[in-house]
Amino acid sequence: MLRTHTCGELRLEDKGKEVTLCGWSQTVRDKGGVVWIDLRDRYGVTQLIFEEGVSSPEILAQASKIHREYVLQATGEVVERYNKNPNIPTGDVEIRVKELTILNKSKTPPFLIEDETDGGEDLRMKYRYLDLRRNIVRKNFELRHRMMQETRRYLDAQQFMEVETPVLIKSTPEGARDFVVPSRMNPGEFYALPQSPQTFKQLLMVSGFDRYFQIVKCFRDEDLRADRQPEFTQIDCEMAFVNQEDILNTFEGLARHLFKEVRGVEFKEFPRMQYADAMRLYGSDKPDIRFGMEFVELNELAQNKGFNVFDQAELVVAIKAEGCADYTRKQLDALSDYVKRPQIGAKGLVYVKYNSDGSFKSSVDKFYSEEDLKAWADKMEAKPGDLLLVLSGDTSHTRRAMNELRLHMGSELGLRKPDEYQPLWVLDFPLLEYDEETKRYHAMHHPFTSPKPEDMDKLENDPGSVRANAYDMVINGVEVGGGSIRIFDRGLQQQMFQLLGFTEEEARKQFGFLMDAFEYGAPPHGGIAFGFDRLCALMGGKDSIRDFIAFPKNTSGRDVMIDSPSPISEEQLKELDLKLREEARNNRS
Ligand code: AMO
Repeated sequence: MLRTHTCGELRLEDKGKEVTLCGWSQTVRDKGGVVWIDLRDRYGVTQLIFEEGVSSPEILAQASKIHREYVLQATGEVVERYNKNPNIPTGDVEIRVKELTILNKSKTPPFLIEDETDGGEDLRMKYRYLDLRRNIVRKNFELRHRMMQETRRYLDAQQFMEVETPVLIKSTPEGARDFVVPSRMNPGEFYALPQSPQTFKQLLMVSGFDRYFQIVKCFRDEDLRADRQPEFTQIDCEMAFVNQEDILNTFEGLARHLFKEVRGVEFKEFPRMQYADAMRLYGSDKPDIRFGMEFVELNELAQNKGFNVFDQAELVVAIKAEGCADYTRKQLDALSDYVKRPQIGAKGLVYVKYNSDGSFKSSVDKFYSEEDLKAWADKMEAKPGDLLLVLSGDTSHTRRAMNELRLHMGSELGLRKPDEYQPLWVLDFPLLEYDEETKRYHAMHHPFTSPKPEDMDKLENDPGSVRANAYDMVINGVEVGGGSIRIFDRGLQQQMFQLLGFTEEEARKQFGFLMDAFEYGAPPHGGIAFGFDRLCALMGGKDSIRDFIAFPKNTSGRDVMIDSPSPISEEQLKELDLKLREEARNNRS
């Protein structure tokens, strides 16, 4: 080893020891006659001191030539510091250096390698390896590492077996676009990168593996957001001979274990909510229940009083912002502008102030008497001093807009505290979702999800109302995981594909292997997958999963450090027969 200790471990008790440290020079202070260097490694920072009369003149001269991020090896005695630094664990000591080796020089880095840096996002991503040197960034990966170890520990103890599934596969219909890889040996044919190992884990159940897990990369070609990356990691799990209750308990256990071990947070039993209630009360299938502000539907009270906008609406829905009746015109206009932004798309916002003197002031005073507004307030259990915010329109858009407004108000009022965690199971999702554009049903989770047995009779005539044995784990409004009990019967699977608009031929071509497997003794099974990056971000108190991915893509799906994606050479294209395909297409047209 080039060192005897790390830069994070020396304390006063080590006084008098001769030690050798290695690391990067974080700061160099040269006071003429004394040079201090803060030496940094993964474990911490230790101060080196070079003093006239103590260090040799050569070493002193050498020290004064050190710049930021030089890689150094320093040997010397641990001494007590005159000016102690209570902010770091090594702050009581320093190393009086006798020997110094410059292991490598460094150009001046393009930004400060400190917690507070002057580097913008683009620059830091271009030099991500330097960004990762920063304490505050590296800590995220220590958390990620802990999470991985604790995941394996918990699942191993529960008899889950880690199995790797292939990365070059055929597309799985998870709802996003596939990334595809051309096959040189099979010209004109493509592999797809897995959106998830869904079908493979089901096949492992047919194989009798009983309990499977994998911490696995998944690939989805979809638009990026703070909580989405084109390649991300799942904790993917599957179990045989279980019902939904067993799965919920097992994976509530995993979440509980991770939060306790990694974050020191103990959860009580997770509350459970029906999908339909989540939509009705929060306008979202992933409600943030750290705060109340549930929706109250006002159709009965607000319609047929001459206000056309409400009269024509399918839904009139309100939330109550406690203590906000004193909002100014400007604040109310800002809220109105917020919901009218194209991303949210509400036509307008109605407010009702329940003033502290018991009177009412609203933006619809023309249509509603004080008595009317009092009835709204009573239904909403509002008190004097509260503000009611009302939206109307067709049900799904209005709920979506109100969800945004509720979250916005929650943030504005400081009700979404990052260090408070509120987990939730959302249950009984619809099996299918009707797509107006394609005029077809889509699987809400995926086509392998089993309908609820009690809804089975509606499959033929009213498929839209069939609920699935599907569940999501939601924490603080983030969908951290989702799964379902699976179909394990060939006939039902075939019926499902039919409902989704597959011809028998198409279904056989794409999923014949799975349906065949179901004919060889497939056990009842079900599973779940967690978004591992999302779980890490949540525990680290951050919104963006990029902070927890060592080398992430930017919002255009690019890795700006390695400059990818990039064109490939003519030879490669030729070898892959891609050019030829294009020519063939041209020939055809
Ligand atoms: P699903 O598609 O719900 O289920 O994905 C599971 C979880 O993965 C996370 N996730 C993502 N994280 C980051 N970037 C993305 N682009 C991204 N997409 C999804 C979410 C989500 O809850 N095969 C099923 C699971 C099953 O049925 O067992 C599946 O993949 O946190």
